[in-house]
Amino acid sequence: MRNRRRTLPGGRAGRGTTGPRASVAEEKLGARFERTYSTTDYRKHPWFSERPTEFVAEAVRSGRVRRGRSLDLGCGAGTLALWLARQGYDAFGIDFSPSAVAVATRRAARRKRKARFRVASALDLPFPRGFADLVTDIGLVHTLSPPRREVYASELARVLKPGGDYLTVVFAREDQNDEIGPPYRLSVGELMAAFESALEVQEVHAVPSEPARDARRFYAVHLRRRRSPQPGPGPLWR
Ligand SMILES: C[S@@+](CC[C@H](N)C(=O)[O-])C[C@H]1O[C@@H](n2cnc3c(N)ncnc32)[C@H](O)[C@@H]1O
Repeated sequence: MRNRRRTLPGGRAGRGTTGPRASVAEEKLGARFERTYSTTDYRKHPWFSERPTEFVAEAVRSGRVRRGRSLDLGCGAGTLALWLARQGYDAFGIDFSPSAVAVATRRAARRKRKARFRVASALDLPFPRGFADLVTDIGLVHTLSPPRREVYASELARVLKPGGDYLTVVFAREDQNDEIGPPYRLSVGELMAAFESALEVQEVHAVPSEPARDARRFYAVHLRRRRSPQPGPGPLWR
């Protein structure tokens, strides 16, 4: 008997990025994440870890990214923002799930960390232009359909300071064997198309999944906000 595809919040059965199923799935995404955070202990979520994402931790420790103010998009239970606060960042995190933000805020209070969390959409960030020196995204961008990815890229370019850094770990489109996962996995080409007019590539490499360390494939991506726009595909410079 063939395995049935399982889905996770942010994921859907089947593949492909267009068609009615994709848009229905996307509309329900926020509600699904909220339901997950409000009904299941965050420590049981497959993406949860008590430790910061290795790629981000290494980039920060090695000094490859700017210090200052950090913003974690799709912060979930807040692990990464809490760790960045401990490293000396003025740390912020946003998530569209109020229950996730409540968990992150509670964890910050328990640890007496100054990280601040807000309920917000990554497509409409409540921060001014040039707000952050470092933006991180672990597990959000691959939930966005191509049109929404463009809005996201534009918001990202707006809130990042010129010369500021963006670190993300995304599900690789090339991973064809996985039975679970998000709907809009990206190839390196798609990543570049979405971001290259406003951000330039510093580093892209394949990494194992975290925290599961199973066979799934991800890309670790480091982009830097250009000081002036480049012509070409990608989000409108604004
Ligand atoms: C796979 S979880 C990862 C959570 C966290 N980054 C971590 O590594 O533990 C993706 C998170 O992104 C949030 N999210 C997805 N799309 C979002 C959007 N458009 N705006 C804000 N948050 C979003 C979800 O609520 C969820 O907390």
